[in-house]
Amino acid sequence: MVQENRLHPSNFVFPLFIIEGENKRTEVASMPGIYRYSIDLLLKEVESCLKLGLKAFDLFPNIEESLKDKTASESLNKNGLYLRAIREVKKYFPEACVITDVAMDPYSSDGHDGLVKDGEILNDETLEILSKMALAHAEAGADIIAPSDMMDGRVQYIRESLDAASFQNVSIMSYTAKYASAFYGPFRDALESAPKFGDKKTYQMNPANQREALIEASLDTEEGVDFLMVKPALAYLDVIKLLKDNFDLPIAAYNVSGEYAMIKAAAQKGWLDEQRAITETLMGIKRAGADVILTYHAKEVLENNWI
Ligand code: PBG
Repeated sequence: MVQENRLHPSNFVFPLFIIEGENKRTEVASMPGIYRYSIDLLLKEVESCLKLGLKAFDLFPNIEESLKDKTASESLNKNGLYLRAIREVKKYFPEACVITDVAMDPYSSDGHDGLVKDGEILNDETLEILSKMALAHAEAGADIIAPSDMMDGRVQYIRESLDAASFQNVSIMSYTAKYASAFYGPFRDALESAPKFGDKKTYQMNPANQREALIEASLDTEEGVDFLMVKPALAYLDVIKLLKDNFDLPIAAYNVSGEYAMIKAAAQKGWLDEQRAITETLMGIKRAGADVILTYHAKEVLENNWI
């Protein structure tokens, strides 16, 4: 009766990794229980999640190295892995909420989220590429576009391109406060998308900064965003709370790959009670103020009736 917060299947977004091929499923070594699926098996996975009441998915592609280039041109290939996957999921499961990732890194031969020239990221030149990606996702059937690149000005650029193409109903979930974090390591293993040089500190945020998240959130709000996301979640619960207290938009939090890996590794060693550690973690993120939680735990939590 007096419990203040509850977790519900509608709070969750399940990130899914996709690979080329047929009847293929490969486990991510640093993320036990999480797989890269070929499109046919992706459809089966989506179907089994829907049956559990898990309805929102964030898709990420593992692109073959030979298809990567400086401008991420494979991202616009209509017959490429990603756009095909979006179309297929929406074709068979129109009721699924498909969230798509906008950033260059899975397709970039530099492994960066933006265009690289002479070792520097070109913010403004990247916007055109990102907006074309967003448009391609919307055409393929995406419900929510999630720019994870952290270029300045991309929300407005993407919003205007979507509206101009009559995609007014496609929402934008911005990675508003995305920190330059060690906790993305397992994700980069999953996609084989680690930067080929340097780091992402010129565009992702400094973990020491809290007030800067307010600037990022104000800019995204002015630019027409629909959801504000904080990422990672656990080391940034204060930032989730800060945005919740200062903005009226829905707040999303990304419980990232490294956070998943930590619990799994400790549980495998018998050092933590897995169920309790997972549900306590998710509740902590919710209590901090997240309306939406992107988490690799989403399916297991529902499958095992842990909430
Ligand atoms: C890149 C992107 C990253 C994640 C989502 N989109 C990694 C990065 O910025 O290098 C991380 C997700 C996770 O760790 O679970 N655009």
